[in-house]
Amino acid sequence: MNQAQNSEKLKSGKVAWKSPSNIALVKYWGKHGNQLPRNPSLSITLREAVTHTEFEYHVKPTGEGLTVDFFFEKKPATAFRDRILGFLEKRMPAFPFLNNVHLTINSNNTFPHSSGIASSASAFSSIALCISSIQQTLSGNQKKGNDFYRQASGLARLGSGSAGRSVYGGYVVWGALDGFNEYSDDYAVPILTDVHPVFKDIQDAILIVSDQKKKVGSTAGHALMEGHPFAGARYDQAIKNMNSLHHILKTSDLDGFVEIVENEALSLHALMMASNPGYLLMEYNTIQIIEKIRAFRIKKNIPVCFTLDAGPNVHLLYPNEYKAEVVEWIDEDLSEFCSGGKWIDDGIGQGPEQI
Ligand code: DP6
Repeated sequence: MNQAQNSEKLKSGKVAWKSPSNIALVKYWGKHGNQLPRNPSLSITLREAVTHTEFEYHVKPTGEGLTVDFFFEKKPATAFRDRILGFLEKRMPAFPFLNNVHLTINSNNTFPHSSGIASSASAFSSIALCISSIQQTLSGNQKKGNDFYRQASGLARLGSGSAGRSVYGGYVVWGALDGFNEYSDDYAVPILTDVHPVFKDIQDAILIVSDQKKKVGSTAGHALMEGHPFAGARYDQAIKNMNSLHHILKTSDLDGFVEIVENEALSLHALMMASNPGYLLMEYNTIQIIEKIRAFRIKKNIPVCFTLDAGPNVHLLYPNEYKAEVVEWIDEDLSEFCSGGKWIDDGIGQGPEQI
């Protein structure tokens, strides 16, 4: 063993990140090439729905390869381990330490396993941040600047598109958009300036209509957009909604916000209904809740609105100043439409943290 190999062998350590899930306001639906989006998307990063991931790494002598042990909630999870291993093997050119290392990965979620909340965004963003941190440490650099987060976002995106947005807090954009040089299909970027105070403390009550696994996995879901009769119109609509929402976020136009957010949610589901095969992912209680949200908004003149991901659960969005009234209303009038009365009191968050 030469000296370089010997010193490499001594390199081992631990790194851990907690990283949140996010909910898209303008939806990413349709992808091509190497995990590139068909249209730009915009999300808020959540505060409570978080994955904690710890990587213990032992650099091995050259030629010994990559080995991974993966534990989810302290139990070996072989299916996810194989997915991560496949993901990491493809990342070796950009992250050379992955060529010869043993990784023990421990991961757990703060949200219940059976809550119907997509965990791939929080899982892959936390994994990407750990890998980027290890690479940095091994190269003797510790600075967590823009370059670090961009690299982590690009890496997370390769694991799951929406995960690229979870690398930052607040409002986050992924995907190129004319007139915005900083936006890219390769990684997400946070909207740091110009967000009006009324949008800075948006709350998200996640109403769990069903805690079952989703009917359509995201890969199959995105594939439905290839050859979809409305694909072209959808990508134009997403660009239009991105531009409008961008403008709205700088103003206090809560009515405009509500209009775009609900239009995006219903458009996503309309696309799925009109796909081949077609999917109906809203349930009876999803529609009950949507009707109640719209009636409450008019009756109380409170700017509550809903969004949906590719499933039946409803994300009820509202400004924090109405929290007391909204929580009382959920408990009295909406929780009966939730599975076991379950809902999660979430909201916009600050983004991942190294722990
Ligand atoms: C409807 O990011 O889960 O939630 O890239 O295949 O992992 P993959 O897809 P994923 O898709 C998310 C779809 C969505 C909308 C969104 O989050 O923008």
